[in-house]
Amino acid sequence: MAVPVRFTLNHEDVEIHVQDPAATLLDVLRHDLGLTGTKSGCAIGYCGACTVIVDGQAVPACLQMVGLLDGRDVRTIEDLSGPDGLDPVQSAFVKCAGLQCGFCTPGHVMALRALLDEEPDPGEERLRQTVDGNYCRCTGYVKILDSARMAVSLDQALTKEAR
Ligand code: FES
Ligand code: FES
Repeated sequence: MAVPVRFTLNHEDVEIHVQDPAATLLDVLRHDLGLTGTKSGCAIGYCGACTVIVDGQAVPACLQMVGLLDGRDVRTIEDLSGPDGLDPVQSAFVKCAGLQCGFCTPGHVMALRALLDEEPDPGEERLRQTVDGNYCRCTGYVKILDSARMAVSLDQALTKEAR
């Protein structure tokens, strides 16, 4: 019997019916909801490619059982850009050329977005720790770290502008 699960996804209320409450959020996002921006890498919680934001925390969607999402708030990479343009974290990756194949990029962006939402001025050590949690096989991380530093500046500038 299908089990109903209600949660907020990218600011919209959604109700899905799942046959298996232990199915992962990653599979549901990609296969049932068509949100393929969240990538599937290791599927065991190591690589960070599937990072989404649940209740303000960056989490691996491959370890999140969908049956436990009732009443929770989920944001995916699809939430970040809109009619007003890219999120500052995304803009930073573009400006610093922080990607090559781009497979790891949504995970990096979501992890950094969660960090900056919690701590607008995180400092070098936390930026490095955050970037370190997401594997990239292409870039060598120099440009990803440049992107992370620029994301802090762009995000702070946008916040000032909004005041
Ligand atoms: S796919 Fe989820 S951490 Fe690797
Ligand atoms: S840009 Fe290819 S894995 Fe990071």
